[in-house]
Amino acid sequence: MKNEEFATALSSPPKGAGPTYILGIESSCDDTSAAVIRDGFLLSNVTASQAVHEAYGGVVPELASRAHQQNIVPVVDAALKQAGIEREQLSAIAFTRGPGLLGSLLVGVSFAKGLAASLGIPMIDVNHLHGHVLAHFIHTENDDYVSPEFPFLCLLVSGGNSQIILVKSYKDMEIIGQTIDDAAGEAIDKCSKVMGLGYPGGPIIDKLARQGNPEAFTFSKPNIPGYDYSFSGLKTSFLYNLRDWIKDDPDFIEHHKEDLAASLEKTIVDILMKKLRLAAKDLKIKKVAVAGGVSANTGLRNAFYDYARRYGWQVFIPRFSYTTDNAAMIVIAGYFKYLDKDFCPMSAPAYSRVSEEIRSKH
Ligand code: KG4
Repeated sequence: MKNEEFATALSSPPKGAGPTYILGIESSCDDTSAAVIRDGFLLSNVTASQAVHEAYGGVVPELASRAHQQNIVPVVDAALKQAGIEREQLSAIAFTRGPGLLGSLLVGVSFAKGLAASLGIPMIDVNHLHGHVLAHFIHTENDDYVSPEFPFLCLLVSGGNSQIILVKSYKDMEIIGQTIDDAAGEAIDKCSKVMGLGYPGGPIIDKLARQGNPEAFTFSKPNIPGYDYSFSGLKTSFLYNLRDWIKDDPDFIEHHKEDLAASLEKTIVDILMKKLRLAAKDLKIKKVAVAGGVSANTGLRNAFYDYARRYGWQVFIPRFSYTTDNAAMIVIAGYFKYLDKDFCPMSAPAYSRVSEEIRSKH
């Protein structure tokens, strides 16, 4: 869908009213983010990441929650300022209600409730996973990003999820395959940790992989039926192989880190793409998107372009700033619900997990 078509399809502010401004808030894990849209077009997207977790090699929930408390006011202020509006101009507040870390979510949810109550405007709860998928519908006034038409398949790969989602509409999404254990991003982060590299491992592995040989090492691949994934076996295989190699050469990691990263990345990309191709073939769908933090990965993006050439797929790859957690994806998801007047009550609690179907029911 072209930008102009998107504008016509979506911009329907109530007659006689001014523009519709919505504030979006994301705080499900370790990024505090706020964004503002006007009539469906993004005006600002401000994110404060939390360096405090680097020393621990992973997100520490209690520290994440405290950092959100410190960041939320300045981040929201900056998003409103960049959008050039006052909070009194807001028509609604969209917020991530779940899934995620409960302590982190509570900060964003409580802030959204307080602000919405003080301004007397409605609240819109957004499923974080919906947000990742709907990142493909984020548009600024002048961009040329082409959004997918329904139905399409979306590979959602992040630190907490690896799913193949059949996206039938803005609110009707069905998970047709998912990991039965670790998520792809989690596997990358854990292997990176085993190699003594920093956190999060994804960007580090990506950078090293560009200089390595993806065929240098072979790691075990899962044999799971259907469209489901598994990454825990790969993680164990990586760890055990590394232990054996280090016995012969204590500096093995230092000598081979580029090849290790490239081979690990290739194994994960192969696993992800094999199931995605199977689903696309079975469902006869050629519009295929990728979303979530791992969609920033160069090898995965290249694989999408390669499959587009080989299988005639029309592929949708989000801008880097919309891959990892951000409020722009939350506010666009909220905008679609706003058009449906699908608001949530003040009593709506945060939730850490969702059931298999990620439908936007309260
Ligand atoms: O979507 P996201 O920001 O947070 C979750 O909701 O989980 O995803 C974070 C994950 C982390 O595992 C991180 O290592 C991974 O995305 N990641 C990457 C890259 N950038 C971030 N993985 C591979 N290559 C990258 N360039």
